Amino acid sequence: MCGIVGYIGNKQAAPILLDGLGKLEYRGYDSAGMAVFDGQEIRIAKAKGRLKVLYNMTRGGGTMPGTAGIGHTRWATHGEPSDTNAHPHSNEDASIVVVHNGIIENYMKLKKKLEARGYQFHSETDTEVIAQMLDYYYRGNPLEAIMKVMHRMEGSYALGIMFRDHPGEIYAVRKDSPLVVGQSPEGNFIASDVPAILKYTREVYFIENEELVCLKADSLNFYNIDEEELQKEPVTIEWDIHAAEKGGYAYFMMKEMQEQPKAVADTLNPRLKNGGIEIEELGMDEEELRAVEKIFIVACGSAYHTGVTAKYVFEGLARIPVEVDLASEFRYRNPILNKNTLVLIVSQSGETADSLAALRQARALGSRTMGIVNVVGSSIAREADSVLYTWAGPEIAVATTKAYSTQLIALYLLALKFASARGTLRKEELQTMLEDLRQLPEQISLLLSHKEKVQKFANRYLAAEHIFFIGRGIDYAISLEGSLKLKEISYIHSEAYAAGELKHGTISLIEEGRLVVAVLTQPELYKKTISNIVEVKSRGAFVMAVTTAGNTEVEKVADYVIYIPETNPYFTNSLAVIPLQLFGYYVAIGKGLDVDKPRNLAKSVTVE
Ligand code: G6P
Repeated sequence: MCGIVGYIGNKQAAPILLDGLGKLEYRGYDSAGMAVFDGQEIRIAKAKGRLKVLYNMTRGGGTMPGTAGIGHTRWATHGEPSDTNAHPHSNEDASIVVVHNGIIENYMKLKKKLEARGYQFHSETDTEVIAQMLDYYYRGNPLEAIMKVMHRMEGSYALGIMFRDHPGEIYAVRKDSPLVVGQSPEGNFIASDVPAILKYTREVYFIENEELVCLKADSLNFYNIDEEELQKEPVTIEWDIHAAEKGGYAYFMMKEMQEQPKAVADTLNPRLKNGGIEIEELGMDEEELRAVEKIFIVACGSAYHTGVTAKYVFEGLARIPVEVDLASEFRYRNPILNKNTLVLIVSQSGETADSLAALRQARALGSRTMGIVNVVGSSIAREADSVLYTWAGPEIAVATTKAYSTQLIALYLLALKFASARGTLRKEELQTMLEDLRQLPEQISLLLSHKEKVQKFANRYLAAEHIFFIGRGIDYAISLEGSLKLKEISYIHSEAYAAGELKHGTISLIEEGRLVVAVLTQPELYKKTISNIVEVKSRGAFVMAVTTAGNTEVEKVADYVIYIPETNPYFTNSLAVIPLQLFGYYVAIGKGLDVDKPRNLAKSVTVE
């Protein structure tokens, strides 16, 4: 994880690099640095802390003249966040400089070899090894040296490299870490992600694994690992630049929560056609849908929670067995897959290392694979047999909200598609459910418009140390997400429990005044969860319930009730999650925390 950016052209590079790094801070923000080349000398500036430290240190880039440069924003993997460990890294005389996103797995071995040959290292990073190895193999031809180093490195990388001997050139290469190249009349760019360069160009090239690019101010040359030149086609990015900005809200997270009605509608509406569901990019006909014997949903973090919900939806509606796995577990558990299994990888970024590895394993074991992905052209999107895009637009806040909501929609659509193909859902039932789906954007808007009610309640719990979330069935899946939202941004310890399981140990933690958030949206389970509320109430808990409008019985047992509009029980997650997102948000805001950049977390986790 980390973000890299580079520019070469007819403008001053440093301000462009700083600007691009600002858009990449979601990829890491414990230190930042840049190297700028004025044709004579490569100047390096780097500093621990947020980008503004580097900005102030270089007076907005003013102290670093030059029209070529590379920059980096870091999320530490090898070596703590520090000035020394910050990128760029270089060889001894700073004639070769490197920025890196990813992890070199065999760096210790490579470092030892270089040390035996007299090389000295100053940082604890794996990246410095790359710079020194380049030095070792460099004989005046950058391409040749980079290829040699690539053959020796194991792991993942996107690299930006400059050689003092080659003014007017930047080299970039990738393997298993994202990299885009942008092209404009004023110069050319590299970046880990499109928003970093969107202000300057919409013409981009997606670099594939083990491809290398040489950027000059007015030309781009692409090569494969055998040094053969490649012809690549640019892609035009249609995103609105403002979508990548905060749009007037204090935090991206609030902006993105507010965007949920639109994101949900954008993901849903284009697929509701001719009285049914049409998913153009599905790549499976009805017969193929019927042939699937088992589905595995594999993901990390919140995306995993959408899978927990989807299991109930797929099994309930399409009567097809579903297993839900954390990607980091799936890849090492030797899953039983074959041509009749479908592995669904759910990922906002499409770059999460464990999810990508799980996808590759599923393919290797002969399973059909499908990505549910938000970032077009991302690794998972490109490598899966087919991809169902969520149209949430760029998500900047580390804690996902709108991407999560669109993942749910994609999964509902897929479940309904399976159910229709397999004949487990009557036509009229399908029509009613599609109508329910169509209502969701408006219902989400309604819940968002009552945010002050949640804020008032949240303000009472700023000093809480532990908060529990309970629910059954889909309500349990919602609880998992509500609990994660709260803990990741407010730093309050929280756990989600299947309500019936609480009494097998965890109830011992319930004491006077402890907040328990109970989710009750499943009509068949209301009564059961009400009993569980009574259990925690009688041990002193304060209970906030999230339930469906009309279920007023809950008021007799809970201390505070939030109602969600009525919808089909399979879709309640899309509504109940809204007050829970708001709750986490307002607790964190009340505590004065930076909700967009919670400590120790990064938006895109491209390491194992
Ligand atoms: C990180 C983010 C989470 C996200 C998870 C999976 O941990 O902080 O919000 O759910 O990665 O990311 P993905 O991009 O694969 O959905």
